Amino acid sequence: MREFRTVGVVGLGTMGAGIVEVFARNGLRVLAAEVDAEAVERGRVHLETSTARAVGRGKLTQEAADELIGRITTTTSLADLAEADLVVEAVPEHLDLKAQVLGELDRVCRPDVILASNTSSLSVTELAVRTGRPGKVVGMHFFNPAPVQKLVELVRTVVTEPDVIEDARAFAASLDKVPVVIGDRAGFIANALLFGYLNHAARMYEARYATREDLDAAMRYGCGYPMGPLALLDLIGLDTSYEILDTMYRQSRNPLHAPAPILKQMTTAGLLGRKSGRGFYTYA
Ligand code: CAA
Repeated sequence: MREFRTVGVVGLGTMGAGIVEVFARNGLRVLAAEVDAEAVERGRVHLETSTARAVGRGKLTQEAADELIGRITTTTSLADLAEADLVVEAVPEHLDLKAQVLGELDRVCRPDVILASNTSSLSVTELAVRTGRPGKVVGMHFFNPAPVQKLVELVRTVVTEPDVIEDARAFAASLDKVPVVIGDRAGFIANALLFGYLNHAARMYEARYATREDLDAAMRYGCGYPMGPLALLDLIGLDTSYEILDTMYRQSRNPLHAPAPILKQMTTAGLLGRKSGRGFYTYA
């Protein structure tokens, strides 16, 4: 069984910063990489806002929050991740970009180190074969917000070594997450089931079937969902949602996953949801 003390994260966007927080909260030393100083700073602000919120809610002492932030070292060079015992990449959902990052990590990290991708819809197999260690590449898919959602989907390919999946599973469980293991199919488990529903809600909104508030209220108060589908699309990001649906649709041709045109239109117009301040709703 591998030991995981120092972990690397590449990408400090919404998901990457959340994953860094999960690791640091669990006492791990984190090496976090971004492309430039500005992106590092955005990631830091995200982490500080999130930990300050936990302090404000009495879930974390100021001292513990300072220690948590102190366990994180940021860098703009992937070479600084050489000491990591496992690395998760959480860069934008573009196959070539992710493959390039994993290829570079493959050159930098020790040969036994597991390289994980937080991809939500790309093929882990295609990413794995772009490295010199395909048997040690897995999907490690966290959910938004990563510090809150318990699920981690572990994606095995036809060449993943069994001990790699077992070690990744034990690692995820040690973070107080609930790991599930699945094969490499677009959408894995949760997104394959969730996005048909979210897409349908976007179509109902587009057809002016009901107001956004009523669509969301129906699922919250009728079905016990923590948030309605349009608010959830805003949380995930409309660009990310469009990409996930498009990838699943191209793979399966299931009409359920043919992206609602409104998702593409809103993405093109820069209405990306919470991260841009406006999506189906407007955020302060
Ligand atoms: N970062 C860190 N913590 C956060 C947070 C964030 N962005 N948002 C909320 N929290 C924490 C709060 O601090 C609070 O923590 P404590 O209970 O420890 O105090 C807790 O979450 C609850 O927060 P709130 O009371 O403010 O709000 P809420 O009860 O309405 O919960 C929510 C907010 C957790 C987002 C909840 O509405 C929820 O679970 N929604 C569904 C989210 C979901 O379905 N996510 C999966 C999306 S799919 C995906 O991510 C996969 C993909 O590939 C796209």
